[in-house]
Amino acid sequence: MCGIIGYIGKRNAKEILLSGLKRLEYRGYDSSGIATINDNHISCTKSVGNISKLEKKLKKKSLPGHIGIAHTRWATHGAPLLKNTHPHFDQSREIAVAHNGIIENYDYLRKKLFKKGVRFLSDTDTEVLAHLISQYYKGNLSDAVRSALKLIEGTYGIAVICCKNPNEIVAAKKGSPLIVAVGKNEMFVASDIAATLRHTKKIIHLENDEMVVMRRNSFDIKTIHNKSVTKKIEEVSWNIDMIEKGGFEHFMLKEIHEQPESITNSMRGRIDEKHSTSKLGGLLVFEDKLKDIEKIVITACGTSWHAGLIGEYMIEDIARIPVEVEYASEFRYRNPILNKQTLVIAISQSGETADTLAAIHEAKTKNATIMGICNAVGSSISRESHGGIYLHAGPEIGVASTKAFTSQVTVLLLLALHLGRMRNTSKKRAKSILKELKTIPSKIKAILKEENSFKKIANLYSNKNNFLYLGRGYNFPTALEGALKLKEISYIHAEGYPAAEMKHGPIALIDKDMPIVVIATSDNVYDKILSNIEEIKARNGKVIAVANKGDKKIKKLADHTIYIPKTIDVLNPFLTVIPLQLLAYFIAVKRGCNIDQPRNLAKSVTVE
Ligand code: M6R
Repeated sequence: MCGIIGYIGKRNAKEILLSGLKRLEYRGYDSSGIATINDNHISCTKSVGNISKLEKKLKKKSLPGHIGIAHTRWATHGAPLLKNTHPHFDQSREIAVAHNGIIENYDYLRKKLFKKGVRFLSDTDTEVLAHLISQYYKGNLSDAVRSALKLIEGTYGIAVICCKNPNEIVAAKKGSPLIVAVGKNEMFVASDIAATLRHTKKIIHLENDEMVVMRRNSFDIKTIHNKSVTKKIEEVSWNIDMIEKGGFEHFMLKEIHEQPESITNSMRGRIDEKHSTSKLGGLLVFEDKLKDIEKIVITACGTSWHAGLIGEYMIEDIARIPVEVEYASEFRYRNPILNKQTLVIAISQSGETADTLAAIHEAKTKNATIMGICNAVGSSISRESHGGIYLHAGPEIGVASTKAFTSQVTVLLLLALHLGRMRNTSKKRAKSILKELKTIPSKIKAILKEENSFKKIANLYSNKNNFLYLGRGYNFPTALEGALKLKEISYIHAEGYPAAEMKHGPIALIDKDMPIVVIATSDNVYDKILSNIEEIKARNGKVIAVANKGDKKIKKLADHTIYIPKTIDVLNPFLTVIPLQLLAYFIAVKRGCNIDQPRNLAKSVTVE
């Protein structure tokens, strides 16, 4: 996710901001920039790509000053280009803003400002904020920021400077993390303690709707409604390594735990309560075509392919449009049957996977309409698609995909609802799905709280050489994903199967040494799954069941039962995948594997 650091003190701001940005690199970013005030003027340097490029530019430019703000950007609105890199300015270049988060109503505000004569230099949501602050500015920066924030819908962590107020930084938070760090004759603001830790261990956590005005030797914290708040200065005891991973041992574990938030971010601003549907801005370019599509082909690789399989079930179930799911590497070479009425959906976290990109090229030659579902904004797949939906899951650092998967499933569900509501899905059904979808983040939090019990099970089976994963219906793709996670990071051989297929072959493998993870939620195929478990037990297999809370039948049959909250069938993958991610993680930890960088794997597979 994007990173912010701001500094005010006696030292050279540029040096401190640059070293702070380097500390934020681990979060993933595509561009960075620094702005400082000197002689009542703001100077700014930005660069696309690595911070080393920014550093190179800064060597040629002095950028003096003892106050400044800086940002690492992970694109959400607008491609990773220089014009979209933060800090952003108002028209007079007197106010500079660095922002994390998403301004949901930016389009509305942008149009309003445009009518007032404001001209925009970037495609970002953030620039709107710089112009709004400027419109309210009458000499007092915090008053102007407060007034502007009242108009904002969405999330923000911001740091603002104004060359007419060269002795203060104003910062505010809603939904995006922000801390104030208190030094000796100097103050910092940052999205992450990692950026300021080498200067001071004294920090204050800002809460939502709080705003700080920082000077070199003092600070005031109020709510954005101008009420004073008293805050405690805390002393951090963590070291830098622990902080970068948010206190987690590995990025993968951190990302597993981020899922309640990343799923919320994927939904943010995309639900149309009034019409019980979803609003997906990136599809407007082919909204008319969507009405006429006769077939959908989803193409992807690895985990994204598993998300695609869930997408198939969702779209066919909710929107009643036929869907095929193709491995991109096969699709590109097999002369697929496509035409103008086919919608091809390419799913890719990185947006750079060579096979998926080639599949898009193949589909284009056959006149299909291409929709990209990517996490990385401005990536090759997002650029080459006719339209698309971004995940907004934040950067995923661990090679094993976790939070991108659940965000892909979120976006596919929103798409299924959108297509369904354009056709025959009743408002009542869509409404009940959306209502339940909103409970998913808190249900995932409840599952995560139980992780120690998953760890105990993992430790019992970490020395096994083979695993089977079984599921039916919506739980079948999750079984595939659970097996892939285990393979990738623990190097244990694992296979996912539709549970009923077991008797057509895999049953021959079952003996006392074979652990079998069975997803057995209380759904329309529950009784059938019970019979499958009986078949396994008759052959002495060890069953680790994932079942709904209160299910006593499963407890009697299985060797271990992992309980998860109940949800509707269509949303089961969101909940069932969490214990499977954690099982894989804990088994791999016990085996001493390299969790975040498993052998032979790359985060982005840009070769065929
Ligand atoms: O970036 P993409 O989503 O296109 O990547 C596709 C696969 O390479 C990826 O999902 C891979 O299977 C992951 N390592 C799974 O954890």
